[in-house]
Amino acid sequence: DLAGIEQAVATGALPGWDRVEELVVEAHRRHSADDSGAVADYIPLLGAADPSLFGLAVVDASGGVHDAGDALHEFSIQSISKMFVYALAIQAHGHARVRDIVGVNNTGLAFNSVMALELNGGHPMNPMVNAGAIATTALMTGADADEKWERIRDGLSAFAGRELPFDDEVYHSEMKTNERNRALGRLLSSYGRLTGDSDEIVDVYTRQCALNVTAHDLAVMGATLADGGVNPVTGERVVSADVCRDTLAVVAASGLYERSGEWLFEIGLPAKSGVSGGIVAVSPGKGAAGAFSPRLDSAGNSVRAQLAIGHLSRSLGLNLF
Ligand code: DON
Repeated sequence: DLAGIEQAVATGALPGWDRVEELVVEAHRRHSADDSGAVADYIPLLGAADPSLFGLAVVDASGGVHDAGDALHEFSIQSISKMFVYALAIQAHGHARVRDIVGVNNTGLAFNSVMALELNGGHPMNPMVNAGAIATTALMTGADADEKWERIRDGLSAFAGRELPFDDEVYHSEMKTNERNRALGRLLSSYGRLTGDSDEIVDVYTRQCALNVTAHDLAVMGATLADGGVNPVTGERVVSADVCRDTLAVVAASGLYERSGEWLFEIGLPAKSGVSGGIVAVSPGKGAAGAFSPRLDSAGNSVRAQLAIGHLSRSLGLNLF
């Protein structure tokens, strides 16, 4: 029971992974009544999401799977795609080149800030904000935009261990209201930080954001990074162990945007959020949690997903520090 868990946490006698099944159900039950925050609606179709949905999943580094609530409900991955595309880009180009082009420092500003790009001489600063993610998508290998898109879809599907479906409606809905991302793409081009046609790259970036996942998929994808790049469910090596280390360092610094410091201070795990309501948090060597609920706080991070993952980090004793 919860009192028992909290007492165990307070006394340092952590319940641990032997009770993970029960703890996932408990974290889900405990936070399912919270209805604070608001569903994002700047992408029109996201505004239609059912705010009561709430899924939670944990996958451990040996492939054990624990789901609760709406863990198998599909939603568009949105910004969470950025960390996995970043991993694929480092795998292709190596640590130094991607660090120099995209950067690894927090902007302290909102994920879609134009000012952050201007203030830094056109340098996107990190791959988790939209400007840096668009620059990262441009780095994907492939002769043209279609080939880059194919490699992103195949790569993210390998992280998830199943072919991720593409949500055409979400893609078209975002393409209709995508002026700001196109502006970021053009600014990157104007500063010589994006090669190729920026509108085509923004199109691929918008497609990657419209891949559908579940909280369960997010946990498998995160567990692949926890497991040194091998998907613990399928056994497939997706990226190298070095790529996992680089990716998780950047996710820890900027995965929750301007709230990343606060998150790391309170929860102590690298985590990435998306505006449709998903969050994935990774505990290196141990596993990952995926959570989904559409209501967001003012920085664009799902309220229930943060609470549930925070609860699990404490009850499983995952804080890295
Ligand atoms: O580019 C955008 O604005 C969206 N496709 C993704 C933004 C997002 O998920 C921000 N996350 N909290």
